[in-house]
Amino acid sequence: MLEGKKVLFSGMQATGTLTLGNYLGALKNWVSLNEQYFCFFSVVDLHSITIRQDPETLRENARNLFALYVAAGLNPEQNCIYYQSHVSGHAQLSWILNCFTYMGELNRMTQFKDKSKKNSENINAGLFTYPILMAADILLYQSDVVPIGLDQTQHLELARDIAIRFNGIYGDTFTVPEAYLGKIGTKIMSLQEPSKKMSKSDTQTNATILLTDDSDTIVRKLKRAVTDLEGKVAYRKEQPGIKNLIDIYCAATDILPEQAEKTFANKGYGDFKMAVAEAIISVLEPIQKRQQSLLKEKEYLDQMIRKNAQKANEHAQKTLVEVEKKIGFPAK
Ligand code: TYM
Repeated sequence: MLEGKKVLFSGMQATGTLTLGNYLGALKNWVSLNEQYFCFFSVVDLHSITIRQDPETLRENARNLFALYVAAGLNPEQNCIYYQSHVSGHAQLSWILNCFTYMGELNRMTQFKDKSKKNSENINAGLFTYPILMAADILLYQSDVVPIGLDQTQHLELARDIAIRFNGIYGDTFTVPEAYLGKIGTKIMSLQEPSKKMSKSDTQTNATILLTDDSDTIVRKLKRAVTDLEGKVAYRKEQPGIKNLIDIYCAATDILPEQAEKTFANKGYGDFKMAVAEAIISVLEPIQKRQQSLLKEKEYLDQMIRKNAQKANEHAQKTLVEVEKKIGFPAK
């Protein structure tokens, strides 16, 4: 508990351009939860370097992401929004937790298997131990709740296991975190291959709605989205393309699939696709405008970045000091 509130932690990688999946599966939920919890939202740039990054692009992406968090509705005066690389405690705790995590556990991580296939020329140790850094992020702030998309649940389970293991050895040290998954939109799929997750690393440009896409691009991508021959807007696994579009529509407009099925009962796929495109545009356009104008407020952003890094460091230190003492490191 901090200031009478439970603690929430989440983060996103500052790599490339984010997708609609990142927004609907995570960021949108952060915004809806941010007043209820004491929140830490990190731009997780340490995680990004498991894949080679151009230094200038990484810096620019990180700043864009910071501005996106704020543009989406998070308040940097209330929520602690910060760059992970500004808080050395993440790397310190990560090393310690390395020594409490088994190779077998890391070997089971499906994201490691996927990412090593995609980056076969650079399977570095960071890619393998990445889930430990993620556990350190979460445990460093004694987080109660972690809002994530479905693809991150295996990593969260590992963070819980590490916390429980450490607590078992040294006595209560870490809060054991719970995942928070939204009711809908926890796994937005590719518009071209609806059996695959929508992902920024997808090379098929029409598969992914980027958060930077303008309205014409969104309409074009929706028109080309894969559907089926059933001709009925129905929420069923036999129609994965349409099911995914219903998920997107519902997550963007805060309604349930049954309601969407009723609304589009007598409509064709063309009309439905246009309604989905409009729903996406009305969510993304205001965020894009706010993000662009925030990026021009250089001093304000710099000030928020500095202030929040300091705040995050203070909270991180509390946990680190306790952990180091329990482990047996000499007092400083
Ligand atoms: P990342 O950067 O890949 O994604 C950020 C968040 O977006 C969610 N997400 C999706 N949700 C629904 N449908 C999709 N197609 C989709 N794609 C992505 C992810 O589940 C995630 O919640 N390892 C994390 C970042 C991280 C983190 C943390 C998260 C580092 N430390 C601590 C929570 C707590 C990652 O790579 O997410």
